[in-house]
Amino acid sequence: MKKPYVIVNCASSIDGKIALVGKKPLKISSEEDMARVHKLRNECDAILVGIETVLADDPKLTVKEKYVGKARQPLRVILDSKFRTPENAEVMKPYAKTLIVTTCKEFKEGHVEVIKCGNDKIDLKKLMEILHKKGIKKLLVEGGSTVIWEFLKNKLVDEMFVFFAPIIIGGNAPSIAGGEGARKEEDVIKFEIKEVERMGSGFLLHLIPQHE
Ligand SMILES: NC(=O)c1ccc[n+]([C@@H]2O[C@H](COP(=O)([O-])OP(=O)(O)OC[C@H]3O[C@@H](n4cnc5c(N)ncnc54)[C@H](OP(=O)(O)O)[C@@H]3O)[C@@H](O)[C@H]2O)c1
Repeated sequence: MKKPYVIVNCASSIDGKIALVGKKPLKISSEEDMARVHKLRNECDAILVGIETVLADDPKLTVKEKYVGKARQPLRVILDSKFRTPENAEVMKPYAKTLIVTTCKEFKEGHVEVIKCGNDKIDLKKLMEILHKKGIKKLLVEGGSTVIWEFLKNKLVDEMFVFFAPIIIGGNAPSIAGGEGARKEEDVIKFEIKEVERMGSGFLLHLIPQHE
């Protein structure tokens, strides 16, 4: 299968939570980490998130010039089977091109392209081939929890960065990887630790998935 090189990036509390209880957004990254993330975004051809992240955080998914000098503005890719992206969402604004991946409709309007990929569920492997064909060589997956689990479970991830801030959120807040999770030991996702780096008040973990 031809696919882009896939990098997962997220910011977490030390108890592995990536937002507040009820999916309410929280700024977890330090300023040093923000600078790293924007540089990483600028090196990628596309940034991908799930629809629940769009609904919870309304992110722009752009590169801020103040961190990188000259911003390239990667393609924004939203996994949104039922096409629930609000018309006034930041990802619909023309700061960059947007690709909305659904299982129900297809059209192109200005900088927004909507494609169908899969029947009841978005077929991630097929999507990787589509993105590769569109010239996406490096894809940054920024979440949320369900999307990160699905990419890992489907063995599509080449490397992963997690910035840990020294905070605890607790409760049933979304974690680094949600989805169905592992019920059997053989379904547990294993990693090699490539690097651990102190970053501002927190630390950055650089991981390589060990797919058999
Ligand atoms: N700290 C961080 O770094 C960070 C980064 C990003 C997000 N977040 C947080 O993460 C939370 C959202 O995470 P979440 O798990 O609720 O949602 P999510 O992963 O953002 O989106 C999941 C949704 O994407 C759609 N989807 C379509 N095809 C999919 C596929 N093949 N695999 C996975 N998802 C697919 C599904 O909705 P449909 O069935 O409607 O298509 C699914 O429910 C928010 O609280 C946000 O603040 C944190």
